[in-house]
Parts: sequence; structure tokens; C-alpha cells
Amino acid sequence: MNELHGESRVVALVPAAGQGVRLGESKPKAFVPVGGSPMLALAVDGLIASGSVDEVVVMVPADLIDETRALLPESAIPVHVVPGGAERTDSVRAGLDAAPDATFVLVHDAARALTPPSLISRVVAELRAGAPAVVPALPVTDTIKSVDAAGAVTGTPDRSGLRAIQTPQGFDARLLRAAYATDTQATDDAGLVELLGTTVLTVLGDPLAFKITTPLDLVLANTLVAQRNTPIAAREAVTTP
Ligand code: CTP
Ligand code: MG
Repeated sequence: MNELHGESRVVALVPAAGQGVRLGESKPKAFVPVGGSPMLALAVDGLIASGSVDEVVVMVPADLIDETRALLPESAIPVHVVPGGAERTDSVRAGLDAAPDATFVLVHDAARALTPPSLISRVVAELRAGAPAVVPALPVTDTIKSVDAAGAVTGTPDRSGLRAIQTPQGFDARLLRAAYATDTQATDDAGLVELLGTTVLTVLGDPLAFKITTPLDLVLANTLVAQRNTPIAAREAVTTP
């Protein structure tokens, strides 16, 4: 890829250092299998399969570094494993420190294990076309309400102007470093960039890039992989009465 794009280098940072409290399994979430493979291996596979990434940095709990190296497949591009931190922002910061020569940075949750490679390529294409920050976005299907501390509804924002945001989120590397150098807080990486006043572009997200957060999400993810692995003829045999 570097031959095609001069010196520019796309590095994907994969936060995988969370504990997965809401999933409630016996191991940290990124190591929980989906269709037999740990989520973080699936997420890294998707990044490599996109053909749009030159290097991957995975951030994991410090005591699981060796285990992570053993479970990641051999790959044509470098895949580094570094310790993450207590909060997701700490993990991303650790990943940025491990990617000093990145031109573009993708930040992609290990928990979005089934993200289609085509979505990853869409984000990178917009970065290469000049957008400084790019996030995948989907229309919101539920009505969203704001509430006060007592649970009383305080408003109903117009849903047509709302989007649910996924990963990978893509950035000009200097911009993301500048955003992380500030001492501000945001719930996602793009949020930090927005606070700098930079415009963040959306591209159409993909339902398969959902974040595996709860036990129900894990059931859905396992079901999707099982369907994907079942030949169509066998599926028809099962569904034909
Ligand atoms: N993450 C991370 N470092 C942290 C916290 C989260 O690298 N200190 C990663 C998770 O591993 C996950 C992604 O950020 O891939 C999104 O976070 P989330 O879905 O909240 O995962 P967890 O924090 O593991 O889950 P929970 O909040 O339920 O404990
Ligand atoms: Mg979390």
C-alpha cells in the first residue's frame, strides 16, 4: 500500500483492554469467543482483510500480552500488542504512543468484531480524499428522549438529525494526537476532535459493526457467524419444511 500512496501510513489502533463488565463473562470481553474465535482476533482479521491498513496496534490488559500474541494469526502486515489503560482513552493514548509514524489513524473497538471490511475501506477512502476526521453513522431507529435525574422526560429531539456512531473512526494522525494532548473528556475519539473545532465527516455505517456489549449482543453475534459459516444449500435444507 505504501508504494501506492507515497509515504502515507494507515495504522489501526484496536482498544481491547476493557473488562467487559456488562457482558459478564469470566474473561475480558475482547477474549470472549464469537463463532470460536476471540473477538479481538476477528476485529484484527477484518482490518487486515480490508486491504486498507498498513499496521495494527492492539491494546490489551497488561497480563494478557503474551496470550494475545499467541492467538493472533500470522499476517502480512505488522501487528503490535501493547498494554492498555484503566479507561478507554488511556488505552487509545497508549496505542497512539506505539504508532509514531502513522499518517492516518483508525480507532476500532475489538468489541465490533463483525465489522465488514468494506466499512473500514470507506473510512480510509474519505481520509485519503482529505477529510481530517471520519466516523461511521447510522440513522437512529428508536425515539430518543432526554430525562432529568428523577426520570421525567425533558425533551424529544428530532430523530432525523440524530445518528448512532460506530467504529472504525478515522483521523489525520496529527489531529488525533492534538485532541489527545488536551485535558478534555469525551465519550468517543471524534468527540475530542470536535472540541478542537474540527469538522467530523460521517460515512454510512453498517448494522454488522454493532458493538457486542450485552449477553444478547453475544447471542446475536454467534448466530450471525453460524449463519455465515453454513453453506446456503444446508440452510435451505434446514428451513424447507
Ligand atoms: N477498552 C479498552 N480499554 C479500557 C476500556 C475499554 O481498550 N480501559 C476497549 C474495550 O476492550 C472495547 C472497546 O474499548 O473493545 C469499547 O469499550 P466497551 O464496549 O465499553 O468494552 P468494556 O469496557 O470491556 O465493557 P464494559 O464497559 O461493559 O466493562
Ligand atoms: Mg467500557
